[in-house]
Amino acid sequence: MAKKGTIFRNAGELMTLSGVLQKQGRKPLKEDLGVVKKKAFAVEDGKISWIGNNDKIPKAYKALKEVDLKKKNVFPGFIDCHTHFVFAGDRKHEFELRNQGTSYQEIANKGGGILFTVESTRKASEKKLTELAQQRVKEHLKQGVTTVEIKSGYGLNLKTEKKMLKAARALKGIQVVTTYLGAHAIPKEMNEESYLETLKEDLKIIKKNKLADRVDIFVEKNYFSKEKAKDYLNTAIEMGFKVTIHADQLNLTGGSDLAVELKAQSADHVICLDKKGKKTLAQSQTVAVLLPAADFYLQCDYPDARALIDQGGRVALATDHNPGSSPTQNISFVGLLARLKMKMSLPEVFAALTYNGACALGLENQRGSLTLGKQADFFITEKPWQNFFYSMENHQAEKTYIKGKAVKP
Ligand code: NIG
Ligand code: FE
Repeated sequence: MAKKGTIFRNAGELMTLSGVLQKQGRKPLKEDLGVVKKKAFAVEDGKISWIGNNDKIPKAYKALKEVDLKKKNVFPGFIDCHTHFVFAGDRKHEFELRNQGTSYQEIANKGGGILFTVESTRKASEKKLTELAQQRVKEHLKQGVTTVEIKSGYGLNLKTEKKMLKAARALKGIQVVTTYLGAHAIPKEMNEESYLETLKEDLKIIKKNKLADRVDIFVEKNYFSKEKAKDYLNTAIEMGFKVTIHADQLNLTGGSDLAVELKAQSADHVICLDKKGKKTLAQSQTVAVLLPAADFYLQCDYPDARALIDQGGRVALATDHNPGSSPTQNISFVGLLARLKMKMSLPEVFAALTYNGACALGLENQRGSLTLGKQADFFITEKPWQNFFYSMENHQAEKTYIKGKAVKP
């Protein structure tokens, strides 16, 4: 039978990340980027079925639809593995407060912060939330992001949490992984214990309606304790959810250790980890998701990426896009901060925004590298890889492809 699909020929440089894949994202070096020249590749059923020399395309592939890449460089699509993409309103008034010396935690303790966004998100309709998030999707696609993780957590009641997850599921043009973050904060009307008991019931409904792929919790002083989080996440695991934790962001409260103990997909933020905690995380399968744009915006310390990577840890980077601690979608800025503030090397940044992001979402067998059998999620640009995450500009992809098909932002 004649083959169906697309043959992409005449690529400039093609970044395959073959070595990063082989090393499962640990200690990525320049040679692991697997950058190859003069290549063509075939995409069938959305997956890469052949990669070879441009002048040696097998006869069988000649019948496929042909795309001339005109020497543009090809990069694996970025994976933004930690965002709070669905929300209404903003928190610009808090900026002024913080500038006058009130801390993020003090604002939260007075009922602002997350709880402020909860109010505006509860008021917004599902349609409105979808429209707002769809605009954000556009910005992501323009930068070559092909997968985005989206958390709920600005509802803190079942009705609004469901509304958020449905809005996330309704987004078009990009691949979405949804995470239920009912345990983002304790709603005014409840205490930690009673709220988590309610959430355990809500989890059943989230599961039944297939609204979330994973479950997250904010383990932090004044939010959720390690002990209660363990019980709650174990319930989620028993129901078949994958789990992840907002861990050790503002204080060392044991979230990262718990993530490793529960074999969570990721421990995110991890700014306050001590020496032992860094080693434990680095030696585990759990991915450390670092969110330097939030650290920049909150003017706090940055996580110790060097210690995590040098001890063999899998490190991913993400925007943490949200209205309070990280109001940005700028992937270039995230990469630049990772280099400037955390001394990550350029190959480490590429791995962190692609393959390791896929690992954080349990998708590394399908996405995150451009190798045989993987999904053809990529973007093209004239820019060579060495030029990324160096200037202060937000780089733009010329075209973004998901499963081998061009997507329109
Ligand atoms: O990842 N740390 C908790 N959650 C978010 C902040 C959300 C907000 O401030 O609205 C974060 O930084
Ligand atoms: Fe977050």
